[in-house]
Amino acid sequence: MSQDNLRAVRGTRDILPSEQAYWSYIKNILFSTAQSYGFAEIATPIFEYGAIFSKAIGEETDIVAKEMYYLQSADEDRPIALRPEGTAGVVRAYYEHGLFTEPIPLRLFYFGPMFRHERPQRGRLRQFYQFGVESIGDGNASEDALCILLGRQILNRLGLANSTYHIEINSVGCSMCRPKYISKLVQYLNALDLKKLCDDCLKRKARNPLRVFDCKVELCQKQLAQAPTPLDFLCNDCKAHFKALLEYLEATRVNFSINSRLVRGLDYYTRTVFEIISDTGAAQGLALIAGGRYDKLIALFGKKDAPAIGFGLGAERIVQLLSDAKISPPREAKPKVFVVQLGESAKKKSFTLLEQLIASGITTSSALSKDSLKSQLKAADRTGAKLAIIIGQREIIDKSVIIKDLRSGGQETVDFEQCVTTINDRLQGMD
Ligand code: HAM
Repeated sequence: MSQDNLRAVRGTRDILPSEQAYWSYIKNILFSTAQSYGFAEIATPIFEYGAIFSKAIGEETDIVAKEMYYLQSADEDRPIALRPEGTAGVVRAYYEHGLFTEPIPLRLFYFGPMFRHERPQRGRLRQFYQFGVESIGDGNASEDALCILLGRQILNRLGLANSTYHIEINSVGCSMCRPKYISKLVQYLNALDLKKLCDDCLKRKARNPLRVFDCKVELCQKQLAQAPTPLDFLCNDCKAHFKALLEYLEATRVNFSINSRLVRGLDYYTRTVFEIISDTGAAQGLALIAGGRYDKLIALFGKKDAPAIGFGLGAERIVQLLSDAKISPPREAKPKVFVVQLGESAKKKSFTLLEQLIASGITTSSALSKDSLKSQLKAADRTGAKLAIIIGQREIIDKSVIIKDLRSGGQETVDFEQCVTTINDRLQGMD
């Protein structure tokens, strides 16, 4: 087998034990903050029928047209795809399980891997972890404000200073006002010197004109400087919705700016779109959190219509930001007690002891395949354990154990039956 096949696939990465403290820290904060805003966890499969994504996200989007991973299986004739994002699966589940009978708004959150066949680069992976929230059933701008506040609260609770990110918002209008805007935009694009637009923008012009604003080519952006923006064409209802959102955000003293060129790469958005963008470190300029309202998506899945809003957060980008800001997660609990055994009968006895210690809630460690006292005590030191319990041949005969304080070096002999109680007492006296 070629060595290349023995590596992680390009654009994927392992999360090693040394990084897990960051991940548990982030997950705890994400889950508890979402719960404190009234969101409940939902988990959907990592693969769905491909049609779920193309219908929801849009056939012409990069995600669906270029980035989906399809699975092959012997007994399925319909294409199945790895999820590139979480919203489509949640909306599918909402319908399938009749969640529309639940009181509104139905606030849900999820965390898990997403898959996009993008060009791997800074902050962009082919498998990445996304935390997402979806609030379904409430069309009021107050729900938009609540989602933005939740995003900001998450970053604050993670310990990220306000100066490390900024919030941009926009409205992309609705099915009433957007068509008028798109035709104006296409008129504008057609009047440009088309030779000065990149190939991608020419394609976008034909298939998904709004996406020209995402182009990173300087010459294209120069040409777009005077382009009309969705805000200029909002209908009265969309205008009122956007104004209400601005008022709610101002009332809660959220720092934000309006970016009239903010458009999102998924077709389901209506009205509010927003991004929280990193201003520092290796993730600078990348969206940490991105989302918006999708009032017409639910109707695509069934007869019932329901307004909704949500966002996705890229967990790898958050890990990067935390490590750049030198924010360390709280240290993982170290084992408190290390069990040392000397000889075959002691090894057997140590299993009973480990089971008793663990059952009483004590974190343990051991190196049962090692034989010498010295190597086991060395291993105990490396784990940071406070106490070692030593069982040798003599202790087996005496039905006792030695408890050694690994900091002071002091030791005492206690009856085997008294071991767990004594360990608990000794640990209480230590910090
Ligand atoms: P999205 O903008 O495609 O939106 O992704 C949301 C976030 O996921 C991004 O802001 C970024 O932090 C992270 N992300 C996206 N792609 C990658 C990647 N290739 N590598 C690393 N991180 C990435 C959505 O997915 C929508 N479902 C969000 C939403 C929920 N809108 C409404 N509800």
